[in-house]
Amino acid sequence: MEAAMVAVALGFLLLAGAGASAGDEAREAAAVRALVVRLLGPGPAADFSVSVERALAAETGLDTYSLSGGGGARVRVRGSTGVAAAAGLHRYLRDFCGCQVAWSGSQLHLPRPLPAVPDELTEATPNRYRYYQNVCTQSYSFVWWDWARWEQEIDWMALNGINLALAWNGQEAIWERVYLALGLTQSEINEYFTGPAFLAWGRMGNLHTWGGPLTRFWHIKQLYLQHRILDRMRSFGMIPVLPAFAGHVPKAITRVFPQANVTQLGSWGHFNCSYSCSFLLAPEDTVFSLIGSLFLWELIKEFGTDHIYGADTFNEMQPLSSEPSYLTAATAAVYEAMITVDPDAVWLLQGWLFQHQPEFWGLPQVKAVLGAVPQGRLLVLDLFAENQPVYTRTASFQGQPFIWCMLHNFGGNHGLFGALEAVNQGPKAAHLFPNSTMVGTGIAPEGIGQNEVVYALMAELGWRKEPVPDLAAWVSNFAARRYGVSQRETEAAWRLLLRSVYNCSGEACRGHNHSPLVKRPSLQMNTTVWYNRSDVFEAWRLLLIAASNLTTNPAFRYDLLDVTRQAVQELVSLYYEEARTAYMNKELISLLRAGGILVYELLPALDQVLASDSRFLLGSWLEQARGVAVSEAEAHLYEQNSRFQLTLWGPEGNILDYANKQLSGLVADYYKPRWGLFLQTLVDSLAQGVPFQQHQFDEKVFQVEQAFVLSKKRYPIYPQGDTVDLARKIFLKYSPRGVAGSL
Ligand SMILES: *[C@@H]1O[C@H](CO)[C@@H](O)[C@H](O)[C@H]1NC(C)=O
Ligand SMILES: *[C@@H]1O[C@H](CO)[C@@H](O)[C@H](O)[C@H]1NC(C)=O
Ligand SMILES: *[C@@H]1O[C@H](CO)[C@@H](O)[C@H](O)[C@H]1NC(C)=O
Ligand SMILES: *[C@@H]1O[C@H](CO)[C@@H](O)[C@H](O)[C@H]1NC(C)=O
Ligand SMILES: *[C@@H]1O[C@H](CO)[C@@H](O)[C@H](O)[C@H]1NC(C)=O
Ligand SMILES: *[C@@H]1O[C@H](CO)[C@@H](O)[C@H](O)[C@H]1NC(C)=O
Ligand SMILES: *[C@@H]1O[C@H](CO)[C@@H](O)[C@H](O)[C@H]1NC(C)=O
Repeated sequence: MEAAMVAVALGFLLLAGAGASAGDEAREAAAVRALVVRLLGPGPAADFSVSVERALAAETGLDTYSLSGGGGARVRVRGSTGVAAAAGLHRYLRDFCGCQVAWSGSQLHLPRPLPAVPDELTEATPNRYRYYQNVCTQSYSFVWWDWARWEQEIDWMALNGINLALAWNGQEAIWERVYLALGLTQSEINEYFTGPAFLAWGRMGNLHTWGGPLTRFWHIKQLYLQHRILDRMRSFGMIPVLPAFAGHVPKAITRVFPQANVTQLGSWGHFNCSYSCSFLLAPEDTVFSLIGSLFLWELIKEFGTDHIYGADTFNEMQPLSSEPSYLTAATAAVYEAMITVDPDAVWLLQGWLFQHQPEFWGLPQVKAVLGAVPQGRLLVLDLFAENQPVYTRTASFQGQPFIWCMLHNFGGNHGLFGALEAVNQGPKAAHLFPNSTMVGTGIAPEGIGQNEVVYALMAELGWRKEPVPDLAAWVSNFAARRYGVSQRETEAAWRLLLRSVYNCSGEACRGHNHSPLVKRPSLQMNTTVWYNRSDVFEAWRLLLIAASNLTTNPAFRYDLLDVTRQAVQELVSLYYEEARTAYMNKELISLLRAGGILVYELLPALDQVLASDSRFLLGSWLEQARGVAVSEAEAHLYEQNSRFQLTLWGPEGNILDYANKQLSGLVADYYKPRWGLFLQTLVDSLAQGVPFQQHQFDEKVFQVEQAFVLSKKRYPIYPQGDTVDLARKIFLKYSPRGVAGSL
């Protein structure tokens, strides 16, 4: 890759979406002013003046903000785009006012008068893009959202300076139009789409049919949402990424086009071919370009375009051949269909495939894909770069521009986890890589609403040229802003979390929550963690000490509960080890004691403390799904989708517990009966002298798991009980195992 060519390729991308006019500036400024009112209320909002001036970025071409005023005068926030202005506002709130905007509850107590910005503060982002989302976030976190929740999230995006994001709602409605126009019947289409909670994998050709069908009302609602989402994103100057055709088609295509060259791919995720083994059109087939261009045509007609499109042909899918010529053709066909309709198209590709199946994707295969699209027209997401970067082994994606993304979370799992050191160093290292083609940073979790500290750091890095110099100081500051008060105990607690759960590295370091608590029990469970559990117990103690001062702060209550949840998760591992040892040594009394505490004390206590907070209720989770429905039948379908996703995932536990969560109701009616059956089976085994047979247990426990999924039991949607009291009770009863100090 010649340096000059890199410059040309990146130059092209820099221009994408950079149109400017006085009208755009005014519109973006108005969007940010409206955000300030939503965030701070109309009174405080009057103390801010917001303007958008493209000229601010004249020197670097990169999003820039500038802050001045305050101290009695209005705070003046200027940005080169709406997003830059929003990021500037956020910087002011964070660094001058000690505030925090957060999923778990913002702390927006403004000092009066508003602090002065002594010298005008101007900051430019180091990169063209700050990207947000993973295709899976759509299913694990956003699936049931209404406009109010979307509005909140887009505000969060703007404040964090995100300027590139997927906007994938409503695409099935467009697909339905295209397929109907091509002559498929409604029932053929209904049979093809997955249910709402599984659409991410339907879109990537991993799945079809499972959890479906989609209803008419679903499509109408998604179209409505998509229009509002697009309007809002564009009003801030964000670039929404729309979907494009990747090559997967319903089986019925072959009825309409008997000559079409369609091949069935292999199965995915332990699903059988009733739900996976999707059909892929051959790249050279004329039907490929027909469908690809029809879809994009119809999509743009409905939604307009900002010229960046996402498509994934081989995500976690074995291609039909490893011949580079085939991979080039399959890739080129997707791009050709795009530029037929939109000559300015840029393709956003998830680089996940390369790291997920490294044994298939050798350098010739990677080169075949990356070289099939003109330089600068393929924008690659290095999706899991904090852990397994791909740019390092592909010579910076062979000169194609890429975005350094932190993935962090799988399946929206609860569980304290983060690799803050790796995240902090990652973007800078990618910049310094020889002939680096990095053009952005990204936040690409499968699920949100957990481990907020990790996202706060990554969002901040999108606007920093250097890593945070001292993470311990940073995290203390994070805690102070989060709770609105600087307190010794909370800051000490956060520093302990930083050096333990959030300093993940080495063998045992995993983003999935593999804790025994949330897994199907066996005698082989691995309880190893990458940190010292004592640090978690001590952080728990410190938060409880601080609690009396902070109970009205929603983020504190969330954290106290989350750390309590984590502590119970640790205790479950310890009691499990004890029970297993007792069983191995044939000590029935010890088995009953340790197993009994786990099943009859710890899990009920966990369920009870989770029940005290609306953010940890299965009832809220399921009612969100039901709330989208317009009939009881639809409500039932959505509830089932949701229950499956949390547990079995597929009809037979195909991806069992992948998207595990710790919610009140789920602990009581899913994890606890499962552990109860395990304990009972071990006790019977000792009492009757018959060996424990895992496969027999698996068959029995599947009945328990399935019973939960098929149950129609309704759960509370309002919290009950006092979090601090309940957490303290658990601590006082069980902490001697882990904690030196006392309350
Ligand atoms: C970087 O690009 C230059 C100029 O094309 C080339 O000579 C050099 O080998 C490249 N370095 C690496 C490490 O690829
Ligand atoms: C796939 O599994 C389902 C049950 O989960 C079963 O009903 C169906 O017959 C299976 N299909 C095939 C093709 O084996
Ligand atoms: C069908 O497509 C595959 C690749 O997708 C190709 O190998 C095969 O030769 C094609 N068959 C025909 C009859 O064109
Ligand atoms: C994280 O762990 C590494 C060793 O793996 C250590 O060098 C570093 O100081 C730790 N960071 C923090 C903040 O504890
Ligand atoms: C448990 O997992 C850790 C980390 O992956 C590994 O080092 C250890 O050998 C495993 N222990 C057992 C008993 O499998
Ligand atoms: C874990 O932390 C505790 C308390 O600080 C300490 O006593 C213990 O030695 C540590 N364990 C390991 C394995 O480092
Ligand atoms: C409660 O907060 C005040 C400051 O607002 C502080 O002085 C005091 O030490 C705190 N109490 C505890 C128990 O941390």
